[in-house]
Amino acid sequence: VGTGLKVPGTMSRIPLAKRMENMSGNVIREILKLTQQSQVISFAGGLPSPETFPAEKLADITERIIKDNSKNNVLQYGTTEGYMPLREYIAQWVIERGVKANTEEVIILSGSQQGIDLACTAFLNPGDCMLVERPTYLSVLQILKMHQITPVHLSSDEYGVDPQALKEAIAKYNPRVLYLVPTFRNPSGESIALHRRQEIVEIAKKNNLLIIEDDPYGLLRYSGQAIPVMKGLDDEGNVLYLGSFSKIVSPGLRVGYAVGRPEILRPMVIVKQGADVHTSNLTQCIVSTFCREGNLPSHIESICKLYKVKRDYMLSMLDKYFPKKAVWTHPEGGLFIWVSLPGDIDTNKLLPKAVDKGVAFIPGTPFFADGGGNNCMRLNFSCASKEEIEKGIKSLAEVIAEAL
Ligand SMILES: Cc1ncc(COP(=O)(O)O)c(C=O)c1O
Repeated sequence: VGTGLKVPGTMSRIPLAKRMENMSGNVIREILKLTQQSQVISFAGGLPSPETFPAEKLADITERIIKDNSKNNVLQYGTTEGYMPLREYIAQWVIERGVKANTEEVIILSGSQQGIDLACTAFLNPGDCMLVERPTYLSVLQILKMHQITPVHLSSDEYGVDPQALKEAIAKYNPRVLYLVPTFRNPSGESIALHRRQEIVEIAKKNNLLIIEDDPYGLLRYSGQAIPVMKGLDDEGNVLYLGSFSKIVSPGLRVGYAVGRPEILRPMVIVKQGADVHTSNLTQCIVSTFCREGNLPSHIESICKLYKVKRDYMLSMLDKYFPKKAVWTHPEGGLFIWVSLPGDIDTNKLLPKAVDKGVAFIPGTPFFADGGGNNCMRLNFSCASKEEIEKGIKSLAEVIAEAL
């Protein structure tokens, strides 16, 4: 599987753009296609569990807001910055995370992933580099490739990105942007400690570095103490905060948001005008109404309750079935557990054997731009039932035992 399927350029009579050379499909999307075709238990995707979708409430809200079209204008074009009642809600809501922002400092995105893409277009040129954690979110690596931007990995210790490594990379590469998932990182599920967040923001301030703080998982905490988001520690506007309703309401609605200084958001809005004009008014209004009618806190609470059980169960099944030589993270939230197997095992080779046995995971390599992660795998615990978790982990352990 490696880094995914190659774009079939040679099959087309139309030559591809230079930026598409060596592009591959997102490995997760490709594996998901495989697992959807068969009865495979999938620990591969980062999907929220469908049982968490508030479908009835959303159906009721949708009917009401479409009937109310003359008042809310959801069937009309909207502004690129986003649906005002939702921007206002978010500006108030992020105060709970320690972020002070006025409505002008909030824009709505078609999923938070769009924010990464818009920021790349607005702030970076082909040939530039971007600092990223090691491992990092694999779609960021895909986005960077598309923009012809080179990822530079930073090493981490138990507290998160190593400040010394950050300073050295700044001196060596003179980067403009650092991309982080500080809370329940994809893929490892780990978080950056508060003192480290403070240090990183200070370094960014001194070096005019923009930090993209990608936070789709922060509200999914099952144990431990909440850590203030980096945006809340940022008094000079170095942090662009990206949030999302994908994991706490529904990813299909494609509603995310960015919080940042107007001078950071404005260029992104100009790029978004060309990209998709604006995020769907209808889905923005659905999310806004869901939130404004007071549903969000209890809904997030019920999701956390469900995922806590799944996380704990997967951890206990790993303890029960996986070899003693394997190590894995114990995340306090999010959707993923990151497993490191003994160094001579290649999880890319393991994957087809696992799929044959009816279980899928994501191998480690797509999360590294520098060839690491061969012996690692990412396991998602939010989607499978307890029975599937036990069956899947047991099968995976058998495949690993054969490889050992
Ligand atoms: C770290 C990270 N950022 C962004 C996204 C995309 O989120 P959205 O659905 O809001 O675009 C994901 C989705 O899995 C993710 O893991």
